[in-house]
Amino acid sequence: MKVRAVSPANIAFIKFWGKADPKLNIPFNDSFSMNLSGCLTTTGVEFDGGLKEDEVVINGESAAGERKQRVVEFLDLVRKKAGITTRAMVESENNFPEAAGIASSASAFSALAMAGSRAAGLQLPTGELTRLARRGSGSACRSVVDGFGYWRKGNSDETSFAVQMADEKYWDLVDIVTVVAEERKKASSTEGHAAAESSPYFKTRLANLPHRITEMKKAFKEKEFGRFGELVEEEAVDLHMMAMTSRPPIWYWNAGTVQVINNLREWRSDGLLGFATMDAGASVHVICEKKDVEKLNRKLQELPSVKFTIINVAGKGTHEV
Ligand code: PMV
Repeated sequence: MKVRAVSPANIAFIKFWGKADPKLNIPFNDSFSMNLSGCLTTTGVEFDGGLKEDEVVINGESAAGERKQRVVEFLDLVRKKAGITTRAMVESENNFPEAAGIASSASAFSALAMAGSRAAGLQLPTGELTRLARRGSGSACRSVVDGFGYWRKGNSDETSFAVQMADEKYWDLVDIVTVVAEERKKASSTEGHAAAESSPYFKTRLANLPHRITEMKKAFKEKEFGRFGELVEEEAVDLHMMAMTSRPPIWYWNAGTVQVINNLREWRSDGLLGFATMDAGASVHVICEKKDVEKLNRKLQELPSVKFTIINVAGKGTHEV
């Protein structure tokens, strides 16, 4: 039986950076994100007794090496859960350009978790599905639920899972993914997680996070956008400062990143509210309210370092198609 699932990428407002258990992807802190309605991975999985090994096709190309290995290891987890040894055919497509610098691991592993487990005959409850997705890529667990996902860090495989904070209709927030000038080859999030603890700011950020999370939850509950956005940007700058000061230092920002951040700050002083957050890349995710999207998007596109933008509202989580 072939099963196909579609799943969104997500943008983290409170970020996952550093692993307490790198094998199980257990984080040091809770994290919180919004699904990106316009950045989707569709994955089909079929277990086939006739196959000698797993076959993995990503965006029309047969995957090999490390890229394939990560999928095979994930399928091994699914096989173990389902009590089977059959190999599988996996086909996966992203609808967003690779050049956008949007990490596809969250959408990819959440889609693979659903399609793979169902194709193997398992019907996992949501919590368990988020735990399985987490094993592929930590942030993938938050893409499983609709709208806004919250990952409770826990301290074991059983206790580290994602729950829904609110569905996709709760608040009309928008993420304008603002892609800036061509990036050089950058460090993967895996390298970033491994280096995180070496930053002198690692402990400070962890100590400050519970307060920031409480404040952000409050602003989210009260839909107080100005306060919410300030906390989102503060968290992003903190995370990147940690990356920049780790050993080895990891520098994701480029001149375009700084240009966008500076302009957002200037526009805010004129009352136009857009806040910056960055994942493991140079592109800026500009978080704003729906009423300001058109104006902000136009102004962003006028900046010399901006290549293109992708507009996202809060999207559905992983589902079968
Ligand atoms: O899920 P990973 O291992 O690719 O890590 C994600 C890291 C960030 O995107 C920077 C933050 C996050 O929580 O999504």
